[in-house]
Amino acid sequence: MMEPALILVVDDDPTNFEVIEAFLDGQDYRLHYINSGEAAIAALEHLAPDLILLDVMMPGLDGLEVCRRIKAMPTGATIPIIMVTALSEKRDLARCFSAGANDFISKPINSIELLARARSMLLLREQHKQLQGFNARLEATVQMRTAQLQALSIKLLEAQETERRFLAHELHDEVGQALTAIKINLHRLERWVTSTQASEPLEDCLALVDDALQQVRNISLDLRPSMLDDLGLVPTLRWYINRHAKRTGLRETLTCEALAQRLPTATETACFRIVQEALTNIARHAQAQIVSVTLVQANHTLHLTIQDDGVGFDQNHLSRAKAKGTSLGILGMEERGTLIGGQLSISSTPGQGTRIALQVPLAAPV
Ligand SMILES: Nc1ncnc2c1ncn2[C@@H]1O[C@H](COP(=O)(O)OP(=O)(O)OP(=O)(O)O)[C@@H](O)[C@H]1O
Ligand SMILES: [Mg+2]
Repeated sequence: MMEPALILVVDDDPTNFEVIEAFLDGQDYRLHYINSGEAAIAALEHLAPDLILLDVMMPGLDGLEVCRRIKAMPTGATIPIIMVTALSEKRDLARCFSAGANDFISKPINSIELLARARSMLLLREQHKQLQGFNARLEATVQMRTAQLQALSIKLLEAQETERRFLAHELHDEVGQALTAIKINLHRLERWVTSTQASEPLEDCLALVDDALQQVRNISLDLRPSMLDDLGLVPTLRWYINRHAKRTGLRETLTCEALAQRLPTATETACFRIVQEALTNIARHAQAQIVSVTLVQANHTLHLTIQDDGVGFDQNHLSRAKAKGTSLGILGMEERGTLIGGQLSISSTPGQGTRIALQVPLAAPV
């Protein structure tokens, strides 16, 4: 059973309360009387009324000030306030509304007017409460779904890394070894075959095998460099950045301190993939000349930044692309950062380059 609505009457003159009480007699409301603004403010949190009938002219704090203060309180902001006033000048009423009042009733109070206004304000309050409940349920659902999606994201990224690790390994070891064996055999054949007719296709085969070996090696490294697991983030970044610089002609530098210890695997993978995507973006979009990657650890936080001196981009354009789902690279970087408990920020201005910064809190050493 829902409790009847509680109406708080604040008036320095108890006779006014008696009039209101008489007019509301027989209605399904609870009434509470307080004779000063100060006491009403002090009791508000505890009473949590559904409606306040507030006298304007009172000794001490006047009704307007009380109204202002109640509306500034977290509990008070949503409680409807009807000012009860002998003033009828438009200017006075405007002051009531600018103090935050929701409505007013003129003195002497008319019972029909009081009932009608109280009822409509209480209806508003009820609808507001329902909306709040609805909102709270919605928020809880969104939170639950977000947690589920994050768990799913973590699983997907882990599965993707496992798959890439496996494929890189298979390509490098199985296919790579088979190609190497073919190459050795071709060299042996080369020595046995004396016909000049056969030597040309043999040379061709050797060149093709060399090419295939190089490609297999590159694909395997792009999928997941095994040194990330074996040696850790810093050597892998150093190797990757050098390789990227050679391929693109960009001047790329890595500045980092040797880390005190190996980072968690998920953090190493996320940082590596973020650098990979950032450098791919620079090569594709930035028209940059200089790229600097820094990795430092300070105050139990890992700071990774990737900065270029390229054309930059308009952040509004990026927000629109993100909303449309056409900017998956940057979304992916942000997601990877969030999933390891970090935060990724992107600052870019047209003509002034782009800076991507990731901060990840690290557990204190035991
Ligand atoms: N370093 C950069 N310099 C200039 N523009 C950039 C840079 N990085 C990203 N951008 C701009 O931001 C956009 C979004 O990048 P994002 O990586 O999300 O998507 P994409 O590279 O276009 O496609 P993909 O989903 O394949 O990565 C790019 O299309 C580009 O316009
Ligand atoms: Mg991209």
